[in-house]
Amino acid sequence: MNWQESFKSKLMTAQDAVRLIKSGDRVVLAHCVSEPTALVDAMVDNAESYRGVEISHMFSLGEGRYCNEEYKEHFHPNLWFLSGQTRKCVETGWGDFTPLFFHEIPGLMRDGTIGVDVALIMVTPPDEKGRMSTGVSGDYTIQAVKSAKTVIAQVNENVPFTYGDAVFNVDDIDVFVEANTPLPTLPEARIGETEELIGKNCAELIKDGDTLQLGIGAIPDAVCHQLLHKKHLGIHSEMLGDGVVKLYEAGAIDNSLKGIDKGKFVFNFVMGSKELYDFCHKNKDCLLMGVDYVNNPAVIAQNPNVVSINAALGVDFYGQIAADTIGYKQFSAVGGQVDFIRGAAMCKTGNGKAIIAMPSVAKKKDGTMISKITPILAEGQVVTTSRHDADYVVTEYGIAKLKGKTVRDRARALIDIAHPEFREELKESFKKMFNVEY
Ligand code: COA
Repeated sequence: MNWQESFKSKLMTAQDAVRLIKSGDRVVLAHCVSEPTALVDAMVDNAESYRGVEISHMFSLGEGRYCNEEYKEHFHPNLWFLSGQTRKCVETGWGDFTPLFFHEIPGLMRDGTIGVDVALIMVTPPDEKGRMSTGVSGDYTIQAVKSAKTVIAQVNENVPFTYGDAVFNVDDIDVFVEANTPLPTLPEARIGETEELIGKNCAELIKDGDTLQLGIGAIPDAVCHQLLHKKHLGIHSEMLGDGVVKLYEAGAIDNSLKGIDKGKFVFNFVMGSKELYDFCHKNKDCLLMGVDYVNNPAVIAQNPNVVSINAALGVDFYGQIAADTIGYKQFSAVGGQVDFIRGAAMCKTGNGKAIIAMPSVAKKKDGTMISKITPILAEGQVVTTSRHDADYVVTEYGIAKLKGKTVRDRARALIDIAHPEFREELKESFKKMFNVEY
């Protein structure tokens, strides 16, 4: 049978495809933009046929209907990262959260710690050789295809064909469902005065030729705005976002000085605008790879001058960074934060920088302002990045270098970049905690 015949023989409707899911199975959904919404919708519509189907994935932009309490008997969400739609089922106690370093997930699938019964993924239509790309998601999706007992793929013309390790043959996939659903896009991040100042402070730490990792949102985009005049920057990043494309178009990125994958953008997922997805399409300079490669600290460290930039919810005087819980409440997950902080620390030239960039204050639901720099983390708040890993913290008020500093000097450096309204209060706490004047 040639690939065309094989492809045709595996075509089904979404309704028939999801009947292959059995009660008690673990279903892994492809990550983020790659979530195959036609399959997920059909699965939830078929909920009555299942008991205790475990659903696992990282970040989701989807509706997350399987997390609604009405489906409690049918689905058991066991999630690796929480977002708006999926947070409530964990908060109310019937869904679960499993903490994992992002780069470890494929290895845990390989050794069977995370068993995958069914993988629901999304791919491009086959090219002239019968190859398909998962396009916007390499991360754990590549390994899920390899590990799953059954792979069901939504074939979608809107997925870019991205090169790298995320390319499969018709033979690698069991079932195809054609559905050209639009890919989710993110609106352009709103960069206010605070983000602009944070961007400027981060940019002070970045030199020509550095290899960058940038996360999602207004702060990474604000950093990119400040780097337009740089030269020979490289990208080895968990996520590829719009800010990076703008930098490339301005001539600041050429990936020429990277220590590994020279000349290439390396990333494990893509999230942003339609223009970003078009940029990836059949672009020989883009490599979409598995997270066990991209986020592996030993791989990251093969690049010279790695600078990672990630966000946080809070930092305490010890330099303990909280980025995934608010008090006892699980808010997101570690994702790739620690992977990149360690990769930067291990960087082969010995001068990597791991930056945590965040506004100095947050607004609570009732509108009151709270300092994100505190003497100790709030009760219940877990440490995402330990004080031993913490390197730089940047706010709109400046840069605090923590690595190599005593506990007291760390606290002083952090107070110096706290919001002015909170500095006196923080200095009082400093005196009480350390029995010395600030
Ligand atoms: N105490 C209480 N609430 C706080 C808070 C604090 N110290 N800090 C922030 N908040 C609130 C904010 O007010 C906001 O509330 P809202 O949703 O009602 O507006 C909410 O928490 C989110 O804060 P925000 O600063 O907007 O977060 P963000 O969307 O920029 O995300 C992280 C920040 C840290 C949660 C996110 O970057 C993350 O999950 N990081 C870990 C994963 C990672 O770093 N991955 C690697 C890069 S891809």
